[in-house]
Amino acid sequence: MENIMVTGGCGFIGTNFIYYMLSNDEFKGRIINVDKLTYAGNPDNLLAAEKKYARRYIFEKADICDAQAMAAIFDRYAVDAICNFAAESHVDRSIAEPDAFVKTNIEGTFRLLELARQNKEQLKLFHHVSTDEVYGSLGVKGRFTEQMPYRPNSPYSASKASSDHLVRAYFKTYGLPVTISNCSNNYGPYQFPEKMIPLMLLNALEGKPLPVYGEGGNVRDWLYVTDHCQAIWKIMQAGTRGEMYNIGGQCEMANIDLVGCICDLLDDMVPRADASPQRNLITFVKDRPGHDRRYAIDFSKLTDELGWLPQETFESGIRKTIEWYLDHQVWVDQIKNGAHYQRWMKQQYGGDEKTSPL
Ligand code: NAD
Ligand code: DAU
Repeated sequence: MENIMVTGGCGFIGTNFIYYMLSNDEFKGRIINVDKLTYAGNPDNLLAAEKKYARRYIFEKADICDAQAMAAIFDRYAVDAICNFAAESHVDRSIAEPDAFVKTNIEGTFRLLELARQNKEQLKLFHHVSTDEVYGSLGVKGRFTEQMPYRPNSPYSASKASSDHLVRAYFKTYGLPVTISNCSNNYGPYQFPEKMIPLMLLNALEGKPLPVYGEGGNVRDWLYVTDHCQAIWKIMQAGTRGEMYNIGGQCEMANIDLVGCICDLLDDMVPRADASPQRNLITFVKDRPGHDRRYAIDFSKLTDELGWLPQETFESGIRKTIEWYLDHQVWVDQIKNGAHYQRWMKQQYGGDEKTSPL
C-alpha cells in the first residue's frame, strides 16, 4: 500500500490515524485525506502534517457521496488502498436529524465501494472503520463477538450496520479485498466536544453542569485513540480479507463512574479557586431515547491472529487527554464559539452552551 486514501481524515480518529501513519516507520507512502469538512471536520488539525510531511500528505476537500469528484481524486493519486473513516458519528444527532446519517454512512460507503469495484485491479484493500454499536445492547453479562448478529438500535448504528453489510457483500459478490473493524468508544486528542469525555471535561473546566443521561448506569468500553489507530493498521496489513475484527479497550465503566473519575482528576490537576469538588457539577438529565445499556468487547480474534493488545491504560490515557485539551485552548475556543456548536448545545440540552440541564 503506497497511496492510501483516508476518508474523514479531518475528524477525531482520522486525524489521529494520519499522524500515526505519517510517523510510522512501517509506512513510507502517501496519505490522501479526503474530507467534506462537516461541522466535525477541522483541516487545521493537520497543519503540522502539511508542514512536516509536505510530500507525503495531501488534502482534498470532497464528499464521499460525489462519485465524480472521488473518481478524479482516486486517479490523480494512483490510490491503491482506502481506509474509510468518513461518517456522521454522533448518536444524539442521529436521533435528532437522521437524514445525513443515511446519506453519508450508507450511500457514501456504497459510492466508495463502487469506486473500489471499478478500480479493483489496482486496489489492494478497502478497510471500513465501524463500531461495536452494530451489535446492539448487552445485559449485565457477556461481550460482543464477531459471530453475534447485528441488532442496531439508533439511526447511527443502523446506518453503520448497513454500511458494514455492503462492504461484506462487495467481498462476497465481487471479490473486493475488504476488512472491517468494529471498535468501542474512543477518547483522546481532537475529539469534538459533543462526545461524552471532552464535553464533561470542558464543562467542568468552565464550572458548568455535567449532564449525565438517566441515572448514569449505562456502561461503555473505552479505548485510547492511538491504540485504535494501531489496531486498524495491523488489520490493514495482515488481517484476513473479507473478515471483521472487534477492537476494544478492556475498560468497561459506568458513565457515572467515568464522570466521577474525570472530576477527581481535574480536582488534582487544575483545582478550582474555591477548592470545591468538581463532582458537585454532576447533574442527571433526561435519558437518550433507545439508550443502549452496556457495551463490552471480546477482541480475542485480533489478539490471537494479529497480536494486538491496547497499550494505554485508562489512567494514562485520560491524563494525556486532559493535558491535550488544557494545552489546546485555541482549538477548543474555535469550536465552542462557532454558531453550529452553540445551536446544537441549545437544541440538545435546552440552554446556551449547556448552562441548563433539560
Ligand atoms: P468525527 O465525527 O470526529 O469525524 C468524521 C469526519 O468525517 C469529519 O472530518 C467529517 O467532516 C467527515 N465527513 C462526514 N461526512 C462526510 C462525507 N460525506 N464525505 C467526506 N467526509 C465526511 O468521527 P470520528 O469519531 O473520528 O469517527 C470516525 C469513524 O470511526 C466513523 O466511521 C465512526 O463511525 C467510527 N467509530 C468511531 C468511534 C468513536 O468512539 N468516535 C468508535 C468506533 C468507530
Ligand atoms: O461505541 C462506539 C461509539 O462510541 C461510536 O461508534 C460513536 O461514533 C461514538 O460517538 C460513541 O457513541 P456513544 O453514544 O457511546 O458516545 P457518547 O460520547 O455520545 O456517549 C457515551 C455515553 O455517555 C453514552 O452512554 C451516553 C452518555 N452521555 C453522553 C453525552 C454526550 C451522557 O450521559 N451525557 C452526555 O451529555
